[in-house]
Amino acid sequence: MDLTIRIPRPDDWHVHLRDGAMLEAVVGYTARRFRYAMIMPNLNPPIATTELADQYRQRILRAAGNQSPEFQPLMTVYCSTNLDQDDLIRGHEAGIVKAVKYYPAGATTNSDHGGDNILNFIDLFETMADQKIPLLVHAESTNPEIDLFDREAAFLEQELHPLCEQVPNLQVTVEHVSTSAGVDFALAHQRVAASVTPHHLAKNSSDLMAPEFDPDLFCKPIINSEADRQAIVSAVTSGNPSFFLGTDSAPHPTSEKYGEEAKAGIFNAAYGLEVVAEIFAKENKIKYFSSFASKNGAAFYGYEPSQDELQLTREQVDVELASTLSTRDGDKVVLFGRDEASHWTVSPI
Ligand code: NCD
Ligand code: ZN
Repeated sequence: MDLTIRIPRPDDWHVHLRDGAMLEAVVGYTARRFRYAMIMPNLNPPIATTELADQYRQRILRAAGNQSPEFQPLMTVYCSTNLDQDDLIRGHEAGIVKAVKYYPAGATTNSDHGGDNILNFIDLFETMADQKIPLLVHAESTNPEIDLFDREAAFLEQELHPLCEQVPNLQVTVEHVSTSAGVDFALAHQRVAASVTPHHLAKNSSDLMAPEFDPDLFCKPIINSEADRQAIVSAVTSGNPSFFLGTDSAPHPTSEKYGEEAKAGIFNAAYGLEVVAEIFAKENKIKYFSSFASKNGAAFYGYEPSQDELQLTREQVDVELASTLSTRDGDKVVLFGRDEASHWTVSPI
């Protein structure tokens, strides 16, 4: 199937850019394609104040250079017991801080400073609702007695649903939704939306586990069953405004992916857009691709879509694409989505 589409320059509503040599190596992939990028704060130490967010924003812009005039990092701060509400309000009013990110402690990479229970932060969330500051949630239970594949559903039921009942005006994003329970949750709650990754749309738990565990597909929340994947695909390809692209691009050096304990995270900034386009094309729903990639998230966060455009062309020619990148420190990172990207061209890039 050959086709060409033009979409407003997309936004990435969930991305990890890291810092230092890794930031320098990865930021161009995001900056060349995306307009806005919601930047995750899970550095070590975390981005927990307006000042740290502002400094990090400047490091990102410096590393991106001036090759991408539309690119704008939107900064988030890390929710912990140390978060200062006055600082948050000032940072938000100054336009530096766009949202707060909640991590359950221990759920994922650099989440040690996160919360034990989201309901402990009700006071902060009431302030955020008053100030119209969105809450971005890593929705995953850390209870070891709950099966890994059931942890999103458990968190939604036990923590996020009660929170939404108690603070109904709070704007909430269920990040990187990975199950049909997550889809249903976003559909059932009026002020709740969900970001969706290329890898949760394209892969299932059998891809992750068989014939053997594949560290390149290991991320949190874990890639779930084929039935879950299908529920997510059908939600996003329906054009429903509660779903938008957040790549959760999360680079880790191969030394840490293939080490004793695989680090959770998939680097998909390079080819994630092609992976998503391929899903929409295969489902015969390419007409809704721009809603998902360029419009729904912008509307949810109060922005107009970009005036600039990207063109995506699918052709039956297979191009040989890079499978890794290297940092100036000599680390390598695997690029997710090479197969899908091999028959798409994205321009201008
Ligand atoms: C992310 C990372 O590496 O920072 N990892 C991941 O598996 N998604 C953190 C996160 O978003 O959970
Ligand atoms: Zn993430």
